[in-house]
Amino acid sequence: MASSDIMLMVLQTIMMIWDFITYPIYQMLQKPWEKVRMIEKTFAKPVKTSDQEIVYEAAEKQRALFDDMLRAKCDTMDKAWRWSVSKYGSRSLLGTRDILAEEDEVQPNGKIFKKFILGDYRWISYEGVDTTADHFGKGLRDLGMTFQDKVCVFADTRNEWFIAAQACFKQSFALVTLYTNLGEEAVEHGVNQTQVSHIITSHDLLPKFRSILKNTPTVTKVIYFEDQVKSTDTTGFPDNVEIIPFWDVVSRGKKLVDDPKMQPSPPSPNDTAIVMYTSGSTGVPKGVVLSHKNMFSTLKSVMLSIDIQATKEDTFIAFLPLAHVLELLCESMMCMFGVKIGYSTPNTLIDKSSMVKRGSMGDATILQPTIMAAVPLILDRVYKSITEAVAKKGPGFDRIFKYCYDYRMKAILKGESTPILDALLFRNFRSLFGGRLKLIVAGGAPLSKETHDFIRNCMGCPVLQGYGLTETTACASLMEMCEMSTEAVGPPNQGVQIKLINWEEGNYRVTDQPRPRGEIVIGGNTVADGYYLMPEKTAEDFYESNGRRWFKTGDVGQFERNGTLRIIDRKKDLVKLQFGEYVSLGKVEACLKTCPIVDNVCIYGESSKSYTVALVVPDQGQMKVLAKKFGKDNLSHEELCEDHDITGGVLRELVNHGKKHKLEKFEIPGAVSLCKELWAPESGLVTAAFKLKRKPIQEFYQRDLDRMYGSAGGK
Ligand SMILES: *[C@@H]1O[C@H](CO)[C@@H](O)[C@H](O)[C@H]1NC(C)=O
Ligand SMILES: *[C@@H]1O[C@H](CO)[C@@H](O)[C@H](O)[C@H]1NC(C)=O
Ligand SMILES: *[C@@H]1O[C@H](CO)[C@@H](O)[C@H](O)[C@H]1NC(C)=O
Ligand SMILES: *[C@@H]1O[C@H](CO)[C@@H](O)[C@H](O)[C@H]1NC(C)=O
Repeated sequence: MASSDIMLMVLQTIMMIWDFITYPIYQMLQKPWEKVRMIEKTFAKPVKTSDQEIVYEAAEKQRALFDDMLRAKCDTMDKAWRWSVSKYGSRSLLGTRDILAEEDEVQPNGKIFKKFILGDYRWISYEGVDTTADHFGKGLRDLGMTFQDKVCVFADTRNEWFIAAQACFKQSFALVTLYTNLGEEAVEHGVNQTQVSHIITSHDLLPKFRSILKNTPTVTKVIYFEDQVKSTDTTGFPDNVEIIPFWDVVSRGKKLVDDPKMQPSPPSPNDTAIVMYTSGSTGVPKGVVLSHKNMFSTLKSVMLSIDIQATKEDTFIAFLPLAHVLELLCESMMCMFGVKIGYSTPNTLIDKSSMVKRGSMGDATILQPTIMAAVPLILDRVYKSITEAVAKKGPGFDRIFKYCYDYRMKAILKGESTPILDALLFRNFRSLFGGRLKLIVAGGAPLSKETHDFIRNCMGCPVLQGYGLTETTACASLMEMCEMSTEAVGPPNQGVQIKLINWEEGNYRVTDQPRPRGEIVIGGNTVADGYYLMPEKTAEDFYESNGRRWFKTGDVGQFERNGTLRIIDRKKDLVKLQFGEYVSLGKVEACLKTCPIVDNVCIYGESSKSYTVALVVPDQGQMKVLAKKFGKDNLSHEELCEDHDITGGVLRELVNHGKKHKLEKFEIPGAVSLCKELWAPESGLVTAAFKLKRKPIQEFYQRDLDRMYGSAGGK
């Protein structure tokens, strides 16, 4: 008998005895039945039903903190901010790590990676942020901006971004936000369309403006966030544009602090707070116009939905783009709770992140966050890296891990905890993110069942999936803290109504049994005014009815008995195959993405064929493993992608994975092509938020698609 078998037996025996001894104590102390009773509750109910549509609304909730905020008569982002400053004043709010040094590390293959040596977090209090924001806002006034002007922010997430946003809210300037990984043409489009005269950017991104500014005649001032280590080259820009460091603007404002002409004129609820450009999967980015009312309504609504008993020990780790509505709202939310925000980046998040010098600590290790917002892409990576690390320790450890994993999974479903296993094993996973996480909020794209269960189980904290779009200010629904399900996005948030309407073409009706299904339409104060200068597109997607503003999402949903929403499809992502079966491309992709060999995948289907095909960007590490299996380790990655045996091997893995996760036979791809290119936003194949752009992908790989449909003889 192998030693790992013996260990597994010993472990099983210990756990059995432990269960036996502790069962009565558990029942008394943890009252698991209370958690189970919560799970049987109804969270939202239909308030209006017909053959055509059904409208759901959540049961009303209450919270003391919320009442406190309402008593302060908040109704704009500016008032909400002032309320939080008066409440939390001297507490720490924004933290940034010192960069001690930056090094270039030469890799064996000659490539150069940038590595940081990072110090500790340095904090600014609520009051400190308020003062700096006040100065910066007045500085912008001094630089020529006036009430209700727009200013474009094009920078990665960091504390100055947040400060600049508060400054603009105070002064009633509207922010125009653009993703930093948009192409130059898209940036020009946003700047041209909004006719801004002032741009706020950063040291790293400033060079891009040398060419952008040639095509954006309205711009006269560019303000940049400085680098901690390097000085900025401000030469080579058009002569009529002034390039100014962030802190110079703050100093300008400081000198004018008591000048009566510079006092802010606060915004009213209908004023535009943000024009947020979203990178659509087709065409140029659209600017979504969000008012203060929209933003504040989301804050109110989410505040009632997330019930964390936040204290000043709580810390939020911020690394998603602030130009994404999810991150902006999470950070704004943390201010309401009095939680501090530590800034990070996807490249320095954990000890093993790509820009952390080996032996140094990643941001999460230092910060020990308790709350995190993530997109599925990041959680998928965590899932894959843990399973790979487990697999590397050999099959024996793998079995022990599986046993512990299943044991813990069963326990948490019953509402129990597993202190021994946590101390022995799961503590190691938790320490990946500093060991204190008590809440993860996931949004932006659907989170697969495997990843959701895995992260919840291994990180030992709730992973709440939410649903919402920029057009609805991120807010539509969010899972309850107690909810253990996957592939669900929770009941409607407070004050938001979610309607399903028949979509005949897709065969979804609200009269469907056992549960109503249909296109999701969201209504409430969180629904945006529309798209900036696009009246036709606005009229197509938005409408008013019964005194509410509604947005047609194009997603297809189903309501469970307890009022939980489930996203089951997307109108655009549906293809009908030869024999009439509908394949939801997004659903199949979400499932196959959890297959270890898959880094990214795009499913393609033609209605004249009986099966779909897959374009796969393979995981480079797993490809090496597969190559070894076929005795082809001397081939380069490019050659492997073209190799027949390797392609066949990948297809087998996809098929097995699909079967294991209960995909229908016609959903499993019948052929696969391996793509050598990485799908990054710069390639034009995915959006800035890493969503697939189907049309460009199809055009780029047309030959592969033809070949797959030509040669593969089905399954
Ligand atoms: C609501 O019902 C669905 C389907 O039965 C279930 O998966 C989910 O866990 C339930 N949600 C809650 C919060 O109980
Ligand atoms: C922006 O406007 C300038 C001048 O009006 C024009 O030359 C440029 O092509 C425009 N760029 C985009 C992307 O629309
Ligand atoms: C805001 O706009 C709504 C709808 O257009 C209008 O009913 C309301 O009176 C406006 N509120 C203010 C304070 O102007
Ligand atoms: C790889 O090894 C095989 C067998 O040893 C050999 O036939 C082939 O030419 C090698 N390919 C390359 C690219 O070196």
